[in-house]
Order: sequence, then structure tokens, then C-alpha cells
Amino acid sequence: MASEMKQPEVYWTKPNAHCPNSRLPVLVYRSVLPDDMTEESVSKAIGANQWFHGGTFKHYPSAHFHSNTHECYAAISGRTHCLYGVGPLDDLSDGVEFDMQAGDIAVHAAGVAHRNTESSEDYVYMGLYPKGAPKWNNNFCKADEGETRAKGEEASGVDVPDWDPVYGFNAVTGGGSGIGFAFVKQCHAKGARIIIGDLKLTSDAEQYVSKTKDSEVAFQKCDVTSWDDLHDLISASVEKFGAVPDVYAPIAGIYEPSWSNFWDDETSGSYKTIRINVDHPIKFTRLAMRALAGAEKQGVVCLVASTAGIRANYLASLYTASKHAIVGFAKAMGQADVDEGVKINAVLPGLVTSPLWLDREDNMIEWGKYAGRKQLQPDDIGELMVRMVESKEYEGGTCVLKTPYEERIQEEGHTKLQQKMKEYDPSPRPEAALDRIKDNLQSERGKNWT
Ligand SMILES: NC(=O)c1ccc[n+]([C@@H]2O[C@H](COP(=O)([O-])OP(=O)(O)OC[C@H]3O[C@@H](n4cnc5c(N)ncnc54)[C@H](O)[C@@H]3O)[C@@H](O)[C@H]2O)c1
Repeated sequence: MASEMKQPEVYWTKPNAHCPNSRLPVLVYRSVLPDDMTEESVSKAIGANQWFHGGTFKHYPSAHFHSNTHECYAAISGRTHCLYGVGPLDDLSDGVEFDMQAGDIAVHAAGVAHRNTESSEDYVYMGLYPKGAPKWNNNFCKADEGETRAKGEEASGVDVPDWDPVYGFNAVTGGGSGIGFAFVKQCHAKGARIIIGDLKLTSDAEQYVSKTKDSEVAFQKCDVTSWDDLHDLISASVEKFGAVPDVYAPIAGIYEPSWSNFWDDETSGSYKTIRINVDHPIKFTRLAMRALAGAEKQGVVCLVASTAGIRANYLASLYTASKHAIVGFAKAMGQADVDEGVKINAVLPGLVTSPLWLDREDNMIEWGKYAGRKQLQPDDIGELMVRMVESKEYEGGTCVLKTPYEERIQEEGHTKLQQKMKEYDPSPRPEAALDRIKDNLQSERGKNWT
């Protein structure tokens, strides 16, 4: 992939009598394929984002759509002119047109009519399909309105894939150490490109980053208590990778240091523990939603709470309060998965061997009797977070607890929680008015990140 890429061009199609088209836009990415543009290198690059090669084709002049899968076309040779959104029986001027040439990619949703109107002799493109998609069906935009409507219903029921075919970008705070660094390495191994935001890197992380291309993993100094710094992490993704991240992991956190805890009571102003452990993940989630709405794409925010988010700890009451806040926030935000395509969930790790315990000046390990307890490794949590990002099993709002002894869903995601709410609180509960929220997000849609 090129290291400097632009945001995709966005084209909209509307349903008509013969083409269902889609509420999802057509995205055209310019010059994003590997330089050699072979089937092998393109399959590898796009496959890393969970879209897989289904066939290689030449000029295709018949308007058609697939009602059962989304599709990604990667032009690997020559050039073509495309007409989308209309079939042979429609007013062609209602369609959208654009050129493509070798190196470009077009992504269109199930139901969107598409064809080439004119191509160079050497035009060749690959078709790629999201993981788990069925073999595509062909519909030639000539059916009557009833059949087209039925095909449209089928198309709009096709799940939107979790991963953008071109970019799997992550922004990770606290990625310079412990759990964050483990998550970075595991995402990178899967082909994601990553911005690490942290105050510093551990020596292991520094070595890893220095051995990795800047176009794949980049470190940006960031103090998460500065909301400008958080904003700039997303800008760094746009500058380096050409798009806002798909995955946001606010992992940075602190555990009752002597300079910010409940018992020493030397804090004036506000508790830094709350600013780092609570304000930062909440603000980063809001920035993520704005960035994703602007880019018209779906995404994931994976929050890091703790077993302290459901348990009592008199020694570390401020930390306990901060992690309870994250569990509550994740539960509250589960609905964004259904309403906005942004999956927000949280992991609740038990004790993990990391610099959080090993690299500190006080006696917390002794006070808490942590040394003798069985501990997880950062990779155990990194692996779980990758699953929580990728798998539909963990819908928005899901909170997963993992200790050395068990892994379990502590809080079900939004859909299941809705059913359970009646058990928590059987009193009548009228539906909240969400128009203001919808309007806010609508006003952010389609805007470039600035
Ligand atoms: N280690 C555990 O036992 C454990 C258990 C449950 C939850 N957690 C949570 O996991 C997360 C990661 O912890 P870890 O164990 O990997 O610890 P860690 O100390 O190895 O990593 C925390 C990272 O956060 C960064 N950070 C701290 N303050 C920052 C700031 N103001 N701006 C930017 N970065 C900052 C640190 O530099 C560090 O790289 C934390 O949220 C922690 O509360 C840890």
C-alpha cells in the first residue's frame, strides 16, 4: 500500500424501478494498491483486512448488481469508465460516473448497479468479497418493481463488514507498554496499520517500532489528558495512512500512583486518575464517532476497564471508581452499534504482569499482596481484544471479564441487555427521544477530518 493516501471519493446511488442500489455510498480509493499490482500482492494486502479474492475479470459492459454480497473491485491493469446506479431501462443521466485506473479500488454495497462503459484493451480488475460472503449472484437490472424491491430488501439485510477492505487502521493510546503494546503487535501481525499514542515507549516497544516501517506502525507522543493530543492521533492516521482509524483502543491508564489517589489527598483541582482513566477514553470515543461519521464508515472502540470495574477495593478506591465508570460507559454506548455502526465494548482484565506493577516507585505490589497472585500476560488480553474487535459475537456494550481462572461475558451487549433491563427495573420506561443525537451525528457525516 502507498504510504500517503487520500480519503476515498464518495458517490451516492438511489433506489429506482430496476436497481435497488443502497443507502451505503460507493467508495473510490485512488492509488492504493501495492506497486507491483499482482493478484498475489493485492490478495495479500486486501486479505489482511478480511476481504478475499473471488475472481479476476475484464471489461464488463452489462449493468448488474449482487443482492447477496458487498464487493470490492481492484483495478490491476489499464483504465475504465464506470457507470453506477442505473440499468439499461433507466434514465442513464441518473447514474453516477467515474474513471478508474490501475491502482484504484471501488467498493460498492450489495444492491448497487454497476458496469464499465468503456475500457482500455488491457483493463483487468480483481473482485474481492468480505469474509464469510456467499458466492455473488447476478441480477441484470431488468426485473419489475416488485422483484427489484424484494432484491433490495435482501441487499439491505447484508451485514456491513467490520473491516474496510483497503484500510484496517488502529489508534491505540497506551500502546507503548504492557497490554497496549501486546494489542499493537497482534493487530500489526494481522495487517493493520497503527498509530501508537503514549507518553513514551518501553525499550521493547521502541525496538519494535524502529524495526517496523513508519507506514505500518507509527509512534506519536501524546498525553491523553490533553484533548488536543487525542484529536491529533486521528489527524496522524489521516496524514500517514490516508484515513481516520477503523479501530480505537484507549488503553492508557494508571493505578493509584502516589500523585493521584484517594488516600494521600494531595490533589488540588481534579484527580489525574479520573482524567487519564475516565475522561480520556470517553473523549476518545466521542472523537472516534465524529471521525467515523465524517468518513461514512463503521468502526470499533475497545475500552479497557478491569475486574476493579465490578469489584470492591478499599486500597484503590479511586481506580475502582474509574473502572466502574468505564463499564457503565461501555454499557450505555452499546446502542451505537445498532444505531450508528460503531461497536463500543470493554474488556475487564484481572491481574496482568506489566509495567503498571513492575515500573513504579511505591509499594503497591506489597500493599495489595499482588506478587503472590496468579497473573495473566499482556498477550492474553491483547488476543481477547482482537477477538472483541473482529467478532460479531461481541456486539456493542459487551463487557468481557478475563482472569487467570476464567473468561466470561460479564455484561451482555445492547440487544440482550435491552431484554434484561426489564429484570433490573420492571417499572414502565417510555422510549427516549434520540432526535438530538441523530441530528448531531448527521451534521458530522461526510465531513473530512480537520
Ligand atoms: N496490569 C493489570 O493488572 C491491569 C488489570 C486490569 C486493567 N488494566 C488496565 O489496562 C490498561 C493498560 O495497563 P498496563 O497493565 O498495560 O499498564 P502499563 O503501565 O504497562 O501501560 C499503561 C500505558 O499508559 C501510558 N500512560 C499513562 N499515562 C498516560 C498519559 N497521561 N498519556 C498517555 N499515555 C499514558 C503509560 O505510559 C503506559 O505506556 C490500563 O488502563 C489499566 O488500568 C491493567
